[in-house]
Amino acid sequence: MGLVQAAVMAECGHKVTCVDINEQRINNLKQGIVDIYEPGLSPVIINEQKKGHLTFATDGTLAIKDQDAIFIAVGTPESATGQADMRAVYAVAKEIGQKMTQPAAVIIKSTVPLKTAEKVKAVIQEQLSERGEDIAFDVISNPEFLKEGSALSDCRKPDRIIVGTDKDSSRELMLELYAPFNRNHDKIIFMDNVSAELTKYAANCMLATKISFMNEMANIADLCGADIEDVRRGIGSDPRIGYHFIYPGCGYGGSCFPKDTIALLSCANELGYDAEMLKSVRSVNAKQKEKLGNAVIDQFGDNLQGQTFALWGIAFKPNTDDIREAPSLEILKLLLAAGADVKVFDPQALDNLKKEQLDTDTSGKIHYCECAYQATENATALILCTEWKEFWAPEWDTLKQNLKTPMIFDGRNLFDPVDMAELGFVYRGIGRRN
Ligand code: UGA
Repeated sequence: MGLVQAAVMAECGHKVTCVDINEQRINNLKQGIVDIYEPGLSPVIINEQKKGHLTFATDGTLAIKDQDAIFIAVGTPESATGQADMRAVYAVAKEIGQKMTQPAAVIIKSTVPLKTAEKVKAVIQEQLSERGEDIAFDVISNPEFLKEGSALSDCRKPDRIIVGTDKDSSRELMLELYAPFNRNHDKIIFMDNVSAELTKYAANCMLATKISFMNEMANIADLCGADIEDVRRGIGSDPRIGYHFIYPGCGYGGSCFPKDTIALLSCANELGYDAEMLKSVRSVNAKQKEKLGNAVIDQFGDNLQGQTFALWGIAFKPNTDDIREAPSLEILKLLLAAGADVKVFDPQALDNLKKEQLDTDTSGKIHYCECAYQATENATALILCTEWKEFWAPEWDTLKQNLKTPMIFDGRNLFDPVDMAELGFVYRGIGRRN
């Protein structure tokens, strides 16, 4: 997120210095090598370095000293107890307090718990006092809303720019900084810090809620014989509901929804409030991630020793190599625990899967394939977890020849049950009438 934000800021002429403590990552970036798969990012990094708009360093001083705006964009991963792990944010805040040389705005881009801006202010102030310095600064909450896989375009054309501050000078600075992204109509929404922090959590939790709600409807549709695709179109046509983020599937994954729903739950708990809806959103999703694996076991029994399944799609969604909290991992674990072999294919995420600890014996049981069809050779059935474009229109004849049973478990409702029946496949979707 920090890298993408830096890239688009540099594109419109700002001078940006990016700092990371990971030396290998910084050395790679200096050569234009980006260690995540994000479409379009690498060329921008190369171009903007050539133009001198973007520089990379491991020394924090360079990103703090003599700067007008200092962004904090470090990770806030889920800790063992569910709260956001804030160590990186506070370490950066401390360094800013130790090294700042002139009045500056400290802008929090990381997704952070409620009232973090106040705490960051206190950390910086403490360091300045220790140095005996009196430098004016403000801490501005400016959460990011980009999506992995379309991060560049989301950043170049934001739907809204949330700015939490109560200082006029900070408002002016943010208007200037974001001017290139704020053309045609005003997208900046000013508020106080804690409202900005809650806006970020509320947005992700609302989206996660829509998905879990639709997954619950799909499960009811399964039981009553309704078709969730008809229901989706039927409710999406109401503009108050809308078509976005109401696709049922094998659960949401990624680094954001899982971590932010539990982080907000923890914040609410600390405030003495029991956020029951958030708990349900999470528990519906946990069950949904097991749905496809359980459907396979229902069909073929709980002893899958000697059987091989094809798994298409490991990334938590298309156009990324990110597998954090991906539904595919739950399915994989269920199948392996039942004794099956699994032939996996993903256009970008296989290297990350190789590095993943699955908490189950995987020795020799996961077979990494070079193409989608190789994964289906002699497989008992095909399971689809991620809707990469290249899975949308498979060669049906090849599939049928390769699979031992012409059976597809479709975790993203890519295919139509009627077409599948005509093509001679046994088809199981999510909430689809078979
Ligand atoms: C999410 C938000 O969409 C971004 O706005 C936010 O900035 C970001 O988190 C963040 O906090 O950094 P992201 O995690 O990249 O973005 O991915 P999404 O596109 O939101 O997808 C999340 C999961 O929901 C995926 O597993 C996807 O397959 C699933 N999903 C999405 C559904 O199951 N159904 C839908 O209708 C939409």
